[in-house]
Amino acid sequence: MDSIDLRSDTVSWPTAEMRVAMANAEVGDDVWGDDPTTLRLEELAAERTGKEASLFVASGTMGNLIAILTHCKPGDEMITGRRAHTFLHEVGGAAALGGVHPCTIPVQPDGVLDLDDIRAAIRDISDMHNPITRLIEIENPQGDLGSIPLSPDYMRSLRALCDEYGLLIHMDGARVFNAATALGCDVRELTAPVDSVMFCLSKGLCAPIGSMLCGSEEFIRRARRIRKMLGGGMRQVGILAAAGIIAIEKMTTRLDEDHANARRLADGLDGIEGIQIDLPVETNMVFFSLDETLPFDAVGLRDRLEKDYNIKLCIVGERHFRAVTHYWIKAQTVDTVVEAIREQCNAVHQGRGQ
Ligand SMILES: Cc1ncc(COP(=O)(O)O)c(C=O)c1O
Repeated sequence: MDSIDLRSDTVSWPTAEMRVAMANAEVGDDVWGDDPTTLRLEELAAERTGKEASLFVASGTMGNLIAILTHCKPGDEMITGRRAHTFLHEVGGAAALGGVHPCTIPVQPDGVLDLDDIRAAIRDISDMHNPITRLIEIENPQGDLGSIPLSPDYMRSLRALCDEYGLLIHMDGARVFNAATALGCDVRELTAPVDSVMFCLSKGLCAPIGSMLCGSEEFIRRARRIRKMLGGGMRQVGILAAAGIIAIEKMTTRLDEDHANARRLADGLDGIEGIQIDLPVETNMVFFSLDETLPFDAVGLRDRLEKDYNIKLCIVGERHFRAVTHYWIKAQTVDTVVEAIREQCNAVHQGRGQ
């Protein structure tokens, strides 16, 4: 039996249509600019995000790193959230490889960086002791806080602040199409206010590999050199780009299904004694926890679910889980998961009553 894998949307595998497109992709040497499928993908990503150009990169981490290295010089400061993926989970690449100095500020419960906090963090360059603030790095949706989307209004107010101080904005939009779907807006409303955006093809959009970095022609020209420097220039990469085209054309339009399934999961779990939903469910992630009435912690429940039901969940704290819906998780699968967790929790409560 296939496992039911809710650890992340990164576990999603390519659709049958993607596999056919990959097998038949027209390819060339992309470092020479000769791969027609990759060129088509880059045009499409630029068009969808309303930017002049885009670049296919190996991963979200690489896309963010290239963006930061393109925008900043060694010693420049980047303001970002203390809960930002780039700060927490990207191996300190911007500091290690670019000499970019991170300045972290709190992420608010609604996922935003407070504009007054940003203002207070911007350095006074008339004081020669200070590094130069160059870049604001913002995550939309904000993953660690429930994959919560940041609104177009917020993005525009961030732009206005950055314009006041001559700062650049890079958006880690790994799941920006989920954000736009949840907000009911065109993704361009979220991307227009930023100088560059990275989004992933390989998460909820189901492509096997790859992310897109989008921005101005000039920014992408410089980013392409940095991608090469990092060893990210790829050859007949149209094989992967073919799946990316389907990811953008077809998979971005169905994400509301994943969001509905996440809400279905949260509603189901909410009705189980001992389980608590920790964060509002706005996109495809459900954060939940086990209260003290249950005699097992997250590792205990995870192990039982894996062993007895072949269900996989991601542990994010001693009694806390994250479950992520995606294309391969259907409504019926969600019900199976809820029933399995109910069975485990009820067994405990019934056992106590005896
Ligand atoms: C918000 C966010 N940004 C960036 C990344 C990095 O993407 P990748 O795993 O493709 O390097 C992730 C990965 O999960 C993510 O969740």
